[in-house]
Amino acid sequence: MIQATYISTPMRPMSPEDLMQILNSARLNNIQLGVSGMLLFTGSEFIQILEGEERIIEKLLATIKQDPRHGNFRVIEKKQITVRDYADWTMGFKRVDKDDLRDIPGMNKFFDTDLSGEIDHNKLKLINNLLNHFRNERKKKNIHEELSLDQEDKFIFFLHSMIRFAVKVLALLMMLTVLWCVLDVVVVIYKEILSLPITSLGKSEILHVFGSFMIVLIAIEIFINITLYIRNDVIPVKMVVATALMAVARKIIVFDFHDVSAIHVIGTGLLVIALGGSYWLLEREFKVHSDT
Ligand SMILES: Cc1cc2nc3c(=O)[nH]c(=O)nc-3n(C[C@H](O)[C@H](O)[C@H](O)COP(=O)(O)O)c2cc1C
Repeated sequence: MIQATYISTPMRPMSPEDLMQILNSARLNNIQLGVSGMLLFTGSEFIQILEGEERIIEKLLATIKQDPRHGNFRVIEKKQITVRDYADWTMGFKRVDKDDLRDIPGMNKFFDTDLSGEIDHNKLKLINNLLNHFRNERKKKNIHEELSLDQEDKFIFFLHSMIRFAVKVLALLMMLTVLWCVLDVVVVIYKEILSLPITSLGKSEILHVFGSFMIVLIAIEIFINITLYIRNDVIPVKMVVATALMAVARKIIVFDFHDVSAIHVIGTGLLVIALGGSYWLLEREFKVHSDT
């Protein structure tokens, strides 16, 4: 993969509608091309960073260069990457003005810098700092902030701290449950298999052992779920679906088909398809966003 940055000058004043038009077609195309990046508009320059497969980025740069809405198109940096910096954005956008940069150290001279000519090392550094700044700003906004401790209101901060503490207690209890379940597996294996002569080992004993193993795995999944709640950068939805899928799968493994009705089996089958489909969609969504 490569990451390429270019700078260009709009050929006419850009209205919000003009910018929306560029962004809409960029986002639509980029999602299909597996391209991510960010576009900054300063009023007098476009600065865009694009990342994706080298062949695709080269072709896209050639297309964008031909676009009559801008000119003085200069690629100012191109480098190989293995991990995307803008994985979450088919095309992030920020209209940058002086107020945005006033309080950012080293950035207040940005609007006094002439970017119409050659971009030397210092100007490139300034542009990269600007891109990084807005990337970090957007990342902060995107993170899962349900239990954020970054709260100005002291009471909300206190409540969030309490919930975080409760989650830690739950995690500890869940860990004890996991250990208890492991002990149960040992007891079940001993009772159902080791203590019996091999000839008397039946289907129900084996199912019982499998069932106790699955319970440990589910307990571990639930433990991971709980701990994910106290991280800020993860939305545990994929894990919740995986846990549900495992719980239903466990039921299926230990089904005794003499006892369960046909409708029960069909219902469970539909549930597996629904959960499997949801998991697949989530997995696909995560891949599009973080194709690394
Ligand atoms: C500043 C600027 C940035 C652009 N960025 C992208 C982009 O990231 N991806 C993209 O497909 N097109 C981008 N475009 C638009 C392309 O130049 C071109 O119009 C578009 O790819 C044509 O796609 P369409 O045939 O689907 O409309 C950009 C245009 C401008 C002026």
